[in-house]
Amino acid sequence: MPKVKDIPKINPYKEKPFYNSDCVEETFQMELLDQFKTKKPDYKHKPNFTFIDLFAGIGGFHLAALNLGGQCVFASEFDDNARKTYEANFLKHNTELFHSGNFAGDITEVNEKNIPNFDFLFAGFPCQPFSQAGFKKGFSETRGTLFFNIVKIIQEKQPNVFFLENVRGLLRHDDDKTFATIKKVITKKLGYSFFYKIIKASDFGLPQHRPRLFMVGFKDKNIKFKFPEAQELKITMSDIWNGYCPKKIGYTLRVGGRGSKIDDRRNWDSYVVDGNIKKISSNEGKKMQGLPNHFIFPVSETQAMKQLGNSVAVPEIQAVIKQILKKLKTQ
Ligand SMILES: C[S@@+](CC[C@H](N)C(=O)[O-])C[C@H]1O[C@@H](n2cnc3c(N)ncnc32)[C@H](O)[C@@H]1O
Repeated sequence: MPKVKDIPKINPYKEKPFYNSDCVEETFQMELLDQFKTKKPDYKHKPNFTFIDLFAGIGGFHLAALNLGGQCVFASEFDDNARKTYEANFLKHNTELFHSGNFAGDITEVNEKNIPNFDFLFAGFPCQPFSQAGFKKGFSETRGTLFFNIVKIIQEKQPNVFFLENVRGLLRHDDDKTFATIKKVITKKLGYSFFYKIIKASDFGLPQHRPRLFMVGFKDKNIKFKFPEAQELKITMSDIWNGYCPKKIGYTLRVGGRGSKIDDRRNWDSYVVDGNIKKISSNEGKKMQGLPNHFIFPVSETQAMKQLGNSVAVPEIQAVIKQILKKLKTQ
């Protein structure tokens, strides 16, 4: 069982516990987001932790973990366009992942026994209803769902920690039954602890509310975990647009559904900037999710917007992983 060791003591962005001194430091577009710098890790030195990235999308979890010295040993994503973006951004950091065959497609076709050992499991999984008939049975009622695939991997690989992300609605989904089943399976069937909280991207510096349900569990049930405290807003939509935007915190990025008018109740993609109406593009979307300037989308603009709408906001994910690392260090 791999152990989490050598977790950086202070701010890992300032310290250089494992990076090469000659590595090129790439910064985010906005100086205001200076604390979310990305650096090219040098894995000749031991990573701070290893992880797997399930339902990887464009790699929001991967980027946050990479910033904290983590190394991805397995990822799974079955959408061809998302895979392209993922590979274009992470290949240079981790050629082994892509050349070893450990960047898998459909997770339902992966035998969990073939996944390499790892410390942390990350997954922003699609929410699916569980079978009503089996509600009392817990584990078996999740069979055939993507959550079941996560459970099988945790059961087989016994990671130190899992960190799952989903939409806020999962809490109340199917009259609260879905969440109750998830909690029951994790605590009773897997024997892990279970902590959860709804966190907004705006709690971690970004001008977008984007409430999401975060679920964290430790194999060591003695660990008392607390989600990180909210921080102040670091940038507003004016910083995102590089022009005056009266809306301080923007609309939550969505997947598709573009084209509504600015005064439409459901509008999420039009803004008034310097007195003109502007439609959001992947350039602004990227900043709203806390992705670095050098993050590329080798796909169509429509695909890029879809991928951004599906993705996680990196700073909040990073803050939670950092808190997990702290807890494991002090245990
Ligand atoms: C909500 S998104 C997660 C986005 C990701 N957290 C990110 O930062 O970009 C869910 C992802 O799961 C992928 N997915 C859904 N079913 C899958 C499966 N059976 N195997 C692998 N990937 C799957 C989708 O293509 C989608 O990209």
